[in-house]
Amino acid sequence: MPTPLLDHSAQDVSIKPAVEPALSAHLQQRITRDFAPRWEHQWGGKFVLHGRAVGPDAVRLDGNDYLNVTGHPDIVGAQITALRQDSEAVVQSGVFLLGGHPVHAFEADLSHWLGKEDGYLCQSGYTANMGLLQIIADEDTPVYLDGLAHMSLWEGARAAKAPAHAFRHNDPEHLDRMLQRHGPGVVVVDSVYSTTGALCPLLDILEVVERHHSMIVVDESHSLGTHGPRGAGLCAELGVTHRVHFITASLAKAFAGRAGFFTAPASMRYYTLISSFPNIFSSSLLPHEIAGLSATLGVIRDSDEARQRLHANTARLRQSLADSGFPIHHGTEQIIALEAGTEAAAMVLRDELESRGVVGSIFCAPATSRNRAMVRLTLHAALTDAELDHVEAATREVALVVKPWDWPIARRARAAEVAGNQDGGRKS
Ligand SMILES: Cc1ncc(COP(=O)(O)O)c(C=O)c1O
Repeated sequence: MPTPLLDHSAQDVSIKPAVEPALSAHLQQRITRDFAPRWEHQWGGKFVLHGRAVGPDAVRLDGNDYLNVTGHPDIVGAQITALRQDSEAVVQSGVFLLGGHPVHAFEADLSHWLGKEDGYLCQSGYTANMGLLQIIADEDTPVYLDGLAHMSLWEGARAAKAPAHAFRHNDPEHLDRMLQRHGPGVVVVDSVYSTTGALCPLLDILEVVERHHSMIVVDESHSLGTHGPRGAGLCAELGVTHRVHFITASLAKAFAGRAGFFTAPASMRYYTLISSFPNIFSSSLLPHEIAGLSATLGVIRDSDEARQRLHANTARLRQSLADSGFPIHHGTEQIIALEAGTEAAAMVLRDELESRGVVGSIFCAPATSRNRAMVRLTLHAALTDAELDHVEAATREVALVVKPWDWPIARRARAAEVAGNQDGGRKS
């Protein structure tokens, strides 16, 4: 029996199914080898990432609009005005846009807000990371990536054909040893890690980078808007922007838009435009998107109260999840990983939460390592006390069902603690 890869129950039966040519035997074998066992055994014939349809009363902790800017009247108004304008805009690649174009004005505003000279808009955070790595690394430039750095950064190193070396997550000493072994290059970190909500030890990493005369890229996707003075990010918060060579960010998180961005010194402008593939081979954003993002920047700068609420919500929910026995010690920020272990265990956890009106997202391979599947909860500023009460009550109940203190991550933490104590309390 071939594996049913489509869920036909969800399709409109009145539409005559299309006839597709047969796939190559090689591709069929690959799907049977790599995918079918997960589908059949781990997921029980259902797509792992899809839970039930979300009801109107559910508390959604599966988005990245951290400051709740979606639908803000200033943003919607700016988009509508731009759409209504009799625009002469030409749909074309960013590389062709002349100086003074609204895209350049927005790039300058974003860069200056971050404390940088210049920057480039891309179609997404994914392409921004790929486009930047592709132009700053090459076969002779080793790239050192934190083990949990976002996939787009790894793909960027691959596009650059650079030797890519993983260093242990948030471990500057390991990075130091890797740099000693392979020589200076480009170090790549996320400011806040997208699966665990761990904060990068940026000051320690920077010391290592500087000692080895290397360059650093910081992906601020999950700190832009949420951290730092007026939301300018973690580098700004720590006062180290001038020591960071390149900052990148997805504008699909706190900006709740569809774009990405990277900074580079002004001296790199024309080199970047003629080398970075997303700027050359993919079209630029549309005028109403730029207008919306520009308005969003204004809203975000003025959102100190929302930032405070987000951080208060984070502190509150992290404490109550820990009190209920969830091993969430890997992170500190607004992303919370409930790392159940296997994909099947993550599905049970997701379903238990959803049946109590709490919606998170499953993250599993390739977004995590195998058998480190999780339900990821992302918090936002607009969560009310009643909603937080609801999440706390639901997660207390769910803990009794899924017993998170028995998850592999909890057992590993206990084992590490015992080993640490036997070792006279030294950090391993
Ligand atoms: C750290 C990080 N960088 C980059 C990206 C890619 O962003 P986008 O969704 O805009 O392509 C993401 C989103 O998943 C992310 O979490």
